[in-house]
Amino acid sequence: MREVKISLVGYGVVGHGVVDVLTRKRAMMKELGLDLKLISVTDHTGTIISEDGIDAQKILGEKTLTNVATSSMKGKEAIDAIASDLVIEVTPTNIVHGQPGLGHMEAALAGGKHVVTSNKGPLVVAYSRLKKLAEDNGVMLKFEATAGGTMPLISLVERTLVGNTIYGIRGIFNGTCNYILTRMAEENIPYTHALSEAQDLGIAEADPSYDVEGVDTAGKVVILANALFDMNIKYSDVDVTGITGVTPEALALAREKGYAIKLIGDVPALTVRPTLVPVGSPIAVGGTLNSAAIYTDLSGTITVSGLGAGSIETASAILSDVVSIYRTKRIDAIF
Ligand SMILES: NC(=O)c1ccc[n+]([C@@H]2O[C@H](COP(=O)([O-])OP(=O)(O)OC[C@H]3O[C@@H](n4cnc5c(N)ncnc54)[C@H](OP(=O)(O)O)[C@@H]3O)[C@@H](O)[C@H]2O)c1
Repeated sequence: MREVKISLVGYGVVGHGVVDVLTRKRAMMKELGLDLKLISVTDHTGTIISEDGIDAQKILGEKTLTNVATSSMKGKEAIDAIASDLVIEVTPTNIVHGQPGLGHMEAALAGGKHVVTSNKGPLVVAYSRLKKLAEDNGVMLKFEATAGGTMPLISLVERTLVGNTIYGIRGIFNGTCNYILTRMAEENIPYTHALSEAQDLGIAEADPSYDVEGVDTAGKVVILANALFDMNIKYSDVDVTGITGVTPEALALAREKGYAIKLIGDVPALTVRPTLVPVGSPIAVGGTLNSAAIYTDLSGTITVSGLGAGSIETASAILSDVVSIYRTKRIDAIF
């Protein structure tokens, strides 16, 4: 049995999902030969540490760690001080400077710890630097959850489609935009009405600009371009148009001609824009779903879809990355 000591940094929506999933799946992971032991959780208020494994029942009912923290250590201090094998980094995204996640990831990788994350910002700002830091320290940086949530895309390309030349990836990478466009088309309502409905349902933030202006999708385009196409691009290389200018009239006209309008991110075109997609196309999914078409030489077009967000769903992608690190290591060991 391989014991893996895990530190979790960030205890919000995804952090709670990670604690829940690691607890629920601990026995199943042991059957795979992995004892995934969560030994610390850190948020902005401090850290809870237990060498024997954190008792999820003690913390899952707590919104923050204020009442249960056993140390006042914050993110970087906790990463430096706690002897974990792997850090799960799930603090808020900032795609301008990448902090605080960038500092957390640098500290973990420099300290010889694997990093698994759902946080786009550090990867958008400093992918090649982080990748090199991981390589220099003999550890892995995994980030499936950053581009499409639980939808398997990066691992699908890197592992299952290995040997294929990937010509491009096009898809819907933001569930909030997809929900708004779907509701506008279904109900023939203006953008502002669909947006307030999404806000009432908790699908859109009070300040929705990050989603509706296409910023979030463009961040995912940057990550996919750098990680899967080796393009070494920055956010400013992406040509971005959001969905705020899409009208019910345009959606109705498109539908008459057999099309939906979707916010499509495209690699390697490096564009994010409202795009006509044939209604029957596998990427023309509705509601909050994400989708991606992967164009290849050997396998033709492969299409995936799934939830781009959600506490447990995102934690599922994180768990998959964690397991893949140790499975890869086992394969390396064989050869
Ligand atoms: N939610 C999803 O479904 C989803 C899906 C895919 C990817 N993501 C990404 O995953 C990450 C986490 O998302 P989330 O929804 O869980 O966000 P969230 O609910 O805002 O949680 C972020 C957590 O990080 C804490 N935090 C902030 N600064 C910190 C610091 N310096 N050190 C330690 N902890 C700190 C926050 O505390 P305070 O809130 O008190 O500041 C909060 O506990 C984000 O980067 C997001 O873009 C989210």
